Amino acid sequence: APYSLLVLPGDGIGPEVMAEVVKVVDWFQANRGMSFDVSHDLVGGSAYDTHGVPLADETMAKAQQVDAVLLGAVGGPKYDDLDFSLKPERGLLRLRKEMDLFANLRPAQCFDALADFSSLKREVVTGLDILIVRELTSGVYFGEPRGIHDDGNNPENEGGRVGINTQRYTSGEIRRVARSAFELAKRRGNKVCSMEKANVMESGILWREEVQWVHDNEYPDVELSHMYADNGAMQLVRNPRQFDVIVTDNLFGDLLSDAAAMLTGSLGMLPSASLGAPMENGRPKALYEPVHGSAPDIAGQGKANPIACILSFAMALRYSFDQGDAAAELERAVEKVLADGARTADLMGPEGGTPVSTSEMGDRIVAALSTR
Ligand code: NAI
Ligand code: MG
Repeated sequence: APYSLLVLPGDGIGPEVMAEVVKVVDWFQANRGMSFDVSHDLVGGSAYDTHGVPLADETMAKAQQVDAVLLGAVGGPKYDDLDFSLKPERGLLRLRKEMDLFANLRPAQCFDALADFSSLKREVVTGLDILIVRELTSGVYFGEPRGIHDDGNNPENEGGRVGINTQRYTSGEIRRVARSAFELAKRRGNKVCSMEKANVMESGILWREEVQWVHDNEYPDVELSHMYADNGAMQLVRNPRQFDVIVTDNLFGDLLSDAAAMLTGSLGMLPSASLGAPMENGRPKALYEPVHGSAPDIAGQGKANPIACILSFAMALRYSFDQGDAAAELERAVEKVLADGARTADLMGPEGGTPVSTSEMGDRIVAALSTR
């Protein structure tokens, strides 16, 4: 059966980078015997312009049914004054919420040709390929009670207010994201490091126990270690290659994945995925998207780097379609094009040079696929 793919280009540079992904999809169909059932639809500002809402119900329904959703980016200054509920971001949030995408995957992969873009020394990041799995739908960003309260007339509290958030995790929430991490590790280096602060947080103790439970009962063959998240931050910068898959909560994952992003350099290179529960066909609900936004400052100029979006499709090949070899082939094509010196403007160092356009970068990647 063909793989069903819903393409949501979105706003700003979204449609520009997505056009290059479509070239790649076409190449795999023509040359690797894969068959994709691709449908295109609107999200964000472009959906608001057409439907008056940032995500139409029909689009939401389609997203629930396909094997994978591929999203460009949403937002732009044109929509800044819209009501909160109509803002482009709400379209993306609705997708994540209704698909219940609880596992956010942020790889940090260092392409040798770009090693000098890393915030770290080349020796530390050469060959780096790690994956951070962040719990996305619970934890301190959602826990109750929350709010800002008056602190009565407490004379010891200057200003008289209290701000409250609650870190709350259920065992079920921890187990399901742990399962995602172990499943992913099986397709990679077979190693999971779980990060929390079990030394100072009750939710951290539960996190550690439940991850260990899933390991012992369901994935005893995957290597599991535990680390306090603050030490994890240090280790990520000291020796990131010691890790394969890192699994952590929403808050720590937010920080650790942004820090890990800088191990590899440009925002234009960073893919991501968000996974939910397995569907009837055994594949997880899945949304793939570049980490970057709609980049209004360069939209419409052919300057956007399409690699983040193309690598997001490589993740779809690996994690939704079980085409790990094809994913690796696509990643090698990206590596080759970079090694040959092709650079979009965001990848130009201080030494300068002539950047290639968005579509030329896409064409070169397709050409590299064909010449191996
Ligand atoms: P941004 O990621 O769009 O841009 C930040 C900077 O990085 C800009 O200078 C931009 O030109 C550059 N950049 C981003 N992607 C690039 C690429 N592929 N190639 C080359 N350069 C690239 O973040 P910003 O400027 O904070 O937000 C712009 C709009 O995007 C806002 O409306 C924001 O709400 C939205 N946004 C949407 C996201 C999404 O759809 N997931 C995520 C982040 C922001
Ligand atoms: Mg963040």
